[in-house]
Amino acid sequence: MGQQNFEKQIDSLLNLMTLEEKVGQMNLYSGFYDATGPAPKGGNAVEKYEHLKKGWVGAMLNVRGAEQTKKLQEIVVNETRLGIPLLFGLDVVHGQKTLAPIPLAEAASWDLQAIENSAKIAADEAAAEGVHWTFAPMVDISRDARWGRVMEGAGEDTYLGSKIAIARVKGFQGEDLSAPNTIAACAKHFAAYGFAEAGRDYNTVDVGTYTLYNMVLPPFKAATGAGVKTFMNAFNILNGVPATGDAMLQREILKGKWNFDGFVVSDWGSVAEMIAHGHAKDSTHAAELAANAGSDMDMASGSYLKNLTGLVKEGKVDESKIDDAVRRILRVKFELGLFEDPYRYSDIDREKERIYHPDHQAGVLEMAKKSIVLLKNDGNVLPLDKDQKGIVVIGDLADDKNSPLGSWRLASDDDSAVSFLEGMDAYTKEYTFVQGPTAFYSASFLQHVKVNETDTSGIQEAVEAAKSAEVVIMVLGEHGFMSGESRSRTTIDIPVVQKKLLKAVYEVNKNIVLVLMNGRPLTITWEAENIPAILETWQLGSQTGNAIAQVLFGDYNPSGKLPMTFPRSVGQVPIYYNHYSTGRPVNKEGNVFWSHYADEENSPLYPFGHGLSYTSFQYSDLQVDATDPKNVKVSVSVTNTGNRAGEEVVQLYLQDPYASIVRPVKELKGFEKIMLEAGTSKTVSFNLTDKELGFYNQQYEWVVEPGSFNVMVGTNSQEGLSGSFVVDQ
Ligand code: GLC
Repeated sequence: MGQQNFEKQIDSLLNLMTLEEKVGQMNLYSGFYDATGPAPKGGNAVEKYEHLKKGWVGAMLNVRGAEQTKKLQEIVVNETRLGIPLLFGLDVVHGQKTLAPIPLAEAASWDLQAIENSAKIAADEAAAEGVHWTFAPMVDISRDARWGRVMEGAGEDTYLGSKIAIARVKGFQGEDLSAPNTIAACAKHFAAYGFAEAGRDYNTVDVGTYTLYNMVLPPFKAATGAGVKTFMNAFNILNGVPATGDAMLQREILKGKWNFDGFVVSDWGSVAEMIAHGHAKDSTHAAELAANAGSDMDMASGSYLKNLTGLVKEGKVDESKIDDAVRRILRVKFELGLFEDPYRYSDIDREKERIYHPDHQAGVLEMAKKSIVLLKNDGNVLPLDKDQKGIVVIGDLADDKNSPLGSWRLASDDDSAVSFLEGMDAYTKEYTFVQGPTAFYSASFLQHVKVNETDTSGIQEAVEAAKSAEVVIMVLGEHGFMSGESRSRTTIDIPVVQKKLLKAVYEVNKNIVLVLMNGRPLTITWEAENIPAILETWQLGSQTGNAIAQVLFGDYNPSGKLPMTFPRSVGQVPIYYNHYSTGRPVNKEGNVFWSHYADEENSPLYPFGHGLSYTSFQYSDLQVDATDPKNVKVSVSVTNTGNRAGEEVVQLYLQDPYASIVRPVKELKGFEKIMLEAGTSKTVSFNLTDKELGFYNQQYEWVVEPGSFNVMVGTNSQEGLSGSFVVDQ
């Protein structure tokens, strides 16, 4: 069903609104009291309560539940002059109650249909809890694993990130935004937040237009193409201007060139933070700058409510800008059906029926299985026989029902993940579990995880148990709250005591399967050199244990591929596959004067796109047909040369070896995930058009330059069959 047109209703409503009421729509408060209880009696909650009743609050975040949202909606609909419904937003990043894998894990699946379905499940449960709007997908490209928020995005690649942005927007918003199981999505953080210097959250961002246009903006543009209803700007400055106050981003590009008709919400307090940035003199100036720059809604700073009316009366912000912002906000509320039925999403019966629905658990289990990456499997240690004896499981995380839920789990229930051990129990109870040293002393959303960095007690018991084991499964890594917002790290190893545990066990038994749980690429160089089998399981959400067990025991053949490069050393970071050549890419003269480190290789530990299977695939017969330069055809034959069915992500990388602006040594420009029965083959074809061959120049024009192109089709960004072609006009 096409989106209805509400412009006439918006016009007539706008004409009725006072300036204060318009500014009220631009004001977003976080939940400030239990609406099912008595009205607030003290503190600034009383003032906010009054603002609700005056129609000076357009939206709220961090309020959920059919009852809570209904109570607040009743106040605004019944007690304000115009009864304009509230919009309820929440960070439904990878699920509401039933949690999917963290987005970086989902990206590792390269399965766009599964990713869209995961977002659909999240929307169904969020909408059932009265939420209209999620602050997702986060589409920030990042190449820096020190930055904790890489867990929230789709990794380092613009092409994959753009496809995933589309899938997630479609999953959240569906075909009809007014349906009671779809919610408005929000492309964030606009823009370049993932390029924070040194991987330190909220830090300075300074990227050239070339990187901005070609690496950072495309996933945002893809989200607008998918019809995303809202954007969120970013905490960072971009080349000297805070994104929240950046008219080039928000008006010139987003609302101008891209013709975006939704609204832009600031990030939490980012309007007022322009003072700390040194860009705004005070709150009034911050409100003026942000409103003029196209930030339509002020999240949690109160700057707009306090200042905008006066700024309009002083002529510093034209009322036409206020009208434009309010029109955009009202449009989303109309499209959600809130004027038709403000309580549509606050349905207690529906809430009971949809939350933790078995279909949702099944859906996130599928997503989780597909997100697991088999990094190493020397000697085919995996899969384990279902009647495998002598299994010893070691590691605190194996018994953890919280950490695997990840860090963005505002609405989830504690201890609601299927733990690794519970997943094992579904296959066998004949194993020994030894916890080993305590990995984490405490963990919460608001504080850093207290990691055990000294107490090695428990290692000896684990070593004793490992001595007689036939196979040792070690579940190690980060706690779910060690990545996420404001969780930057200067080292990205597994925690030191866990490393000591691993090495101590290795001394007595080398037949180890390392199961990693983490929210970012880790430096696991020693592990990669010594441990025969390594499974990257990220934080897989509610069905963690079941997903891992099905891979461990071979009921699911792992198919994930890394969406982000794994470095050998944190000193290599930022490290990414689509880098530029430099003028000295190789050691030509046999001396030190070329681009390299004295103490580390340039190559990554595991490259972008890497992921193994329990079967094997062979690529052959690469064909490149550039007869039509506007539609270059590339095909390859892929054969499953192993003895069991498996999925393979066939990846196409392109290089423009010389151009008016240097181009990356290769860029992902196509992929297809295929299932092949043992012994069968399939020809996979790609079409390369201007969309794939071109790039944005410094004037933000898309250009395709004639000349030769190199193409590689393979199993990851480093291995494949190569060819080339010429585009001569
Ligand atoms: C946070 C995050 C943003 C989130 C918002 C609301 O600080 O930067 O991604 O949506 O505030 O929680």
